[in-house]
Formats: sequence, structure tokens, C-alpha cells
Amino acid sequence: MSSSSGKSKKSPPFDLDPTRLPQHVAIIMDGNGRWARGRGYPRIAGHRAGVTSVREVVTACAELGIKALTLYAFSADNWKRPTEEVGALMGLLVRFLRLELPTLRRNQVRLQAIGHIERLPRPAREALRRVIKDTARHKGLVLTLALNYSARQEILDAARALARSLARRNGASKPPVHRDDFRKFLSTSLLPDPDLVIRTSGEMRLSDFLLWQAAYSELWFTPVLWPDFRKAHLLEALRVYEKRQRRFGAVAAS
Ligand code: FPP
Repeated sequence: MSSSSGKSKKSPPFDLDPTRLPQHVAIIMDGNGRWARGRGYPRIAGHRAGVTSVREVVTACAELGIKALTLYAFSADNWKRPTEEVGALMGLLVRFLRLELPTLRRNQVRLQAIGHIERLPRPAREALRRVIKDTARHKGLVLTLALNYSARQEILDAARALARSLARRNGASKPPVHRDDFRKFLSTSLLPDPDLVIRTSGEMRLSDFLLWQAAYSELWFTPVLWPDFRKAHLLEALRVYEKRQRRFGAVAAS
């Protein structure tokens, strides 16, 4: 992606069918702590190494022509971690946003964030606001960082917003609420649902990530720890994904 010409090549490798690429890939980046422990390093070294994987995966998705990538970078439950670790994660976020902005610009990546970002420390909020604004007109990959994110909270927020919107109709007839009406109140309303959810480090759960949106996502789990995750692993996931038959509850076409 970061070719000197500044032009990104949007072509999947020859063995991937471009018509069967997921539009939206979502990743639960897990295993930073174990990666660090295995090397006798402090946990934060694992997070630092994980930033390299973030950079590589963003680049790969942009090159492949994937439309959207959502990364679970900090869950609402991650505040339970030691203060130093939380502070270090926020520092890495700020640094990432500062250092990656030129690359995001060059590659037309549009950044957005979901989650209660208003509760993040001010430097993180400001760095996010700056990069979101700077990349708002980009037409390439939509990179969404889930920060202080909880899917249950998101669903609750959406239900409250829907209730307020119905209440505003006062005496006017209230139509039955369809799933698509509800969807509009989710923070991801402008994104397609994730086609593929990847989780690293061998854990096999969603951990409060995109619970509504992942209803029909294909799931791919790998034992690879996030700091070791590279483009080759992403391609492996995409190869598995293109062979999956998605039926959405219907029967397979014979
Ligand atoms: C989970 O590993 C990872 C996180 C909670 C944070 C993810 C953060 C990064 C990859 C770096 C910063 C991100 C950006 C976007 C700049 P864990 O710590 O739970 O690992 P463990 O289960 O092995 O302890």
C-alpha cells in the first residue's frame, strides 16, 4: 500500500476469488499479553508489537480492496486492567494515529470510531477527532476502531434512541419496528454487517463485540497471537471464507 507512487494496487492474490472477498472484516485482536509473557517482557511490549500487526492488516485490507475493517482495540471492560496498562494502550493509540496519518492519507483510508469515545482520555479523543476529520473524505477502506466499546451497551443505546424517536411521534401512529429500523440506531449503521469475524490467540468467543451485527458473520479462529498476525494469516482466513457457503437460514441452492 505504501508504494512510492502513492497508488494502491487493489488486487487480491491470484488464488483468491475477487468476487468472494468479504466486504467487511472485523477482528478481535487477542494474545498480546501472552505474546509478551512468552518472551519475558511486560504486557505492554505485547501491545506495542500488536501495533505492527494493526499496521500490516490495515495495509493488506486496503490493498485487497476490502471495503471495511473493524478492529476491537479497547473494550468497555478493558478499564478493569491495571492503570499503567490502560495508560500505555491509550498512549499507543495516540502515537499510532500520529504516525499513521500520512499512510492513511496516501491510501485513502477513512478512519472512524465506535464506542463511548467521549470517555477516553483527552489526548486520545483529540487525536481521534483530528484523524477522523482529516480522513473524512477518503474513498478507500473504512477503518473503524472499536474503543471503549461494548456491544450490549450499543444495543441498549440504540434501544433508548429508538424509544426517544418513537416518543417524538407523540399521538401519531407508531409503525411496528422492523429490524432494519433498529439497525439505523446502531453505531455501525453505515457499515455492512461483518462478513468475517477473526479472533486470534485461540480464544473462541465474541467478548461483547458486534453482537447484533455478527448474527450471520462467518467466524474464523486462529491460535496465532495478535503480535504474530501477518498478511499471510489474513489471506489464510480469506481463503477459508471464500469456501464457506453462506445461507442466512435458507437452503443451499442445488
Ligand atoms: C488483547 O490482548 C488486546 C487488547 C486488549 C488491545 C489491543 C491493542 C492493540 C493491538 C494495540 C493498540 C491498537 C491500536 C489500534 C493502535 P490481551 O492483552 O488481552 O492478551 P492476553 O489475552 O494474551 O493477555
